[in-house]
Amino acid sequence: MKAYLLNTSGDPKVLQMSNIPSPKISNPTDILIKVKTIGINYAEILSRKGQYSWAPPKPYVLGMESYGKVEKIGSSVTHVAVGDPVIVGGQYGCYAEKVIAPEHLVFKAIKEYTEEENAALLVNYMTAWVVLNKQARIAANEVLLVHAAAGGVGTAAIQLGKALGAHVIGTAGSNEKCEILKKMRVDRAINYLEKDFYQDISENYQGVDVVLEVVGGEVFKKSIELLNPFGRICIAGYASIPFKKSNPFTYWKTWRDAPKAKIMNMAKGSYGIFATHIGYLTENKMISETLFEEMKQFVLKNNIKPVIGKVYDFDEIPKAHEFMQSRKSHGKIVVKIG
Ligand SMILES: NC(=O)c1ccc[n+]([C@@H]2O[C@H](COP(=O)([O-])OP(=O)(O)OC[C@H]3O[C@@H](n4cnc5c(N)ncnc54)[C@H](OP(=O)(O)O)[C@@H]3O)[C@@H](O)[C@H]2O)c1
Repeated sequence: MKAYLLNTSGDPKVLQMSNIPSPKISNPTDILIKVKTIGINYAEILSRKGQYSWAPPKPYVLGMESYGKVEKIGSSVTHVAVGDPVIVGGQYGCYAEKVIAPEHLVFKAIKEYTEEENAALLVNYMTAWVVLNKQARIAANEVLLVHAAAGGVGTAAIQLGKALGAHVIGTAGSNEKCEILKKMRVDRAINYLEKDFYQDISENYQGVDVVLEVVGGEVFKKSIELLNPFGRICIAGYASIPFKKSNPFTYWKTWRDAPKAKIMNMAKGSYGIFATHIGYLTENKMISETLFEEMKQFVLKNNIKPVIGKVYDFDEIPKAHEFMQSRKSHGKIVVKIG
């Protein structure tokens, strides 16, 4: 089968399609899927650069989510059958014509969604759901600040936050992205390159109740300063931080900029800090299945559909990576096979 096997870290050019043997079912709970559409995630940019701690050892096939059709099932699988359209998650393997995943990371596709929307749902909406519903437990009329708001997780958080009744502020790095946020009915869109988000929010609000933080460094520090008493900051990423342990200087910078919990400051401000990683969380079968079902029911009830920013062909994955790391993308980037 054709696949993007990552042999070496580097820029998008290291992503080269090759022919490798198809994966084979080895556990009774395994499911073999013929991949049709792939969802691209920022974590895969970090993986490709060798900066992602959850990545398996090289060589491995990149790709953490896709949509496809079940081709074969292990002997104990009962919730899907051969031929069923499914959504697939996992640590690796989805930049390929076929992928194997354990049953608790394979979910029946949503029939009201297109193939692209099915490939765009799992990682972004599970992350936003966990942050807003399980961690922050956001209440109606609370003020939610979403960073990287025009991106995949960001647009998911805006839709879920609005549906949960929150007042949503989104930050983004261009006016074009802010226009997209306004079309999504955010209550305030801030181009942080034109005006410091801390200053803007301080001038217009008493503070914020919940922050979805995915950047790190100054963004984390300033966001904490904006929290109201009983506020919650939820960390789901560190887009500004290059985790390069091999270099002592950059590692010091990493340590300096990585979000940290200072308990005395939390006590003074009566706020809370959460962090999540959907990959570790969904290793637990019951949690994975429950979260997906809850999130799916919520998005269907509220007519929420993933925002698809751009669609690429399978041989254009290096271009898709180039685009995502340019920071010009919005919504979800997806890749179609065949
Ligand atoms: N914890 C989890 O389980 C989990 C799951 C999924 C994603 N994530 C994290 O959530 C974040 C968003 O992921 P995504 O896949 O939806 O990507 P994305 O938001 O579509 O793309 C990344 C965006 O981050 C923003 N950004 C801010 N500072 C940046 C910097 N210094 N370098 C690069 N980008 C920067 C950029 O938007 P602006 O220029 O507009 O700010 C960029 O477009 C990532 O940090 C990712 O690792 C975490």
